[in-house]
Amino acid sequence: MASYREHIDPNNLPRHIAVIMDGNGRWAKKKGALRIFGHRNAIQSVKDVTEACGELGIKYLTLYAFSTENWGRPKEEVDGLMELLVNTLKKEIKTLMDNRVKLKTIGDTSHLPQECQNNLQWAKDTTQGNEGLTLILALSYSGRWEITEAVKKLANEVKKGNLEPSAITDKDIENYLETSGIPDPELLIRTSGELRISNFLLWQIAYSELYITPTLWPDFRKENLYEAIWSYQQRERRFGKTSEQLNPVG
Ligand code: IPE
Ligand code: IPE
Ligand code: MG
Repeated sequence: MASYREHIDPNNLPRHIAVIMDGNGRWAKKKGALRIFGHRNAIQSVKDVTEACGELGIKYLTLYAFSTENWGRPKEEVDGLMELLVNTLKKEIKTLMDNRVKLKTIGDTSHLPQECQNNLQWAKDTTQGNEGLTLILALSYSGRWEITEAVKKLANEVKKGNLEPSAITDKDIENYLETSGIPDPELLIRTSGELRISNFLLWQIAYSELYITPTLWPDFRKENLYEAIWSYQQRERRFGKTSEQLNPVG
């Protein structure tokens, strides 16, 4: 096969792809380098995947960049990641504009250093009018945090008398999630071979197709994304039904 890209069905693309970008530390270690070297080399993968999604016409790309639990890493690694985020935003804003990418974030960004928050706000404001790919960075994010926040807001509405507990639907819950208004990811990719979710998009991935590859994130390129999409297109998404219901004969 020359490229998986040629085998991708343009009429069956996921609207939303989510990625757990994992394996930067191991990639660096294999090269005898510090972990931060892996994080720096992860930027090219982010650029590749963002560009490929834009070219294919994918609408939403969510990247898990920093989890609630990642705050527990050594301070120098956390500081290095925050610095990398600021530098990358400044450096790549032109590319985002040229490619009509709209930047969003999910997560408790109020915990990020002030300089990060300022740069994120600036990048989001600058790209707000773009109508190409929406790139969603999950920063200081975890699924349980997001659901807990949604429950607090719902409880408040009940307390104010705006909502009857027995009338709460899954749509109400969705409206209070960080991803409100964004369709659930059809495809969830995790690199580096770990077979877990690590507190990512717990609500939204109820019926996502999972694609786990041993490739470490800094090695992930467009072709790896094409292969993931191709794999997604081979699946039968049954949503609880039977195959026969989905493919009636005659
Ligand atoms: C993913 O790579 C990046 C972040 C979690 C910020 P890791 O840093 O987790 O790399 P490994 O899993 O230790 O190899
Ligand atoms: C998940 O990776 C978080 C991000 C990719 C940002 P981790 O490396 O933090 O996950 P665990 O600790 O292996 O589950
Ligand atoms: Mg990891």
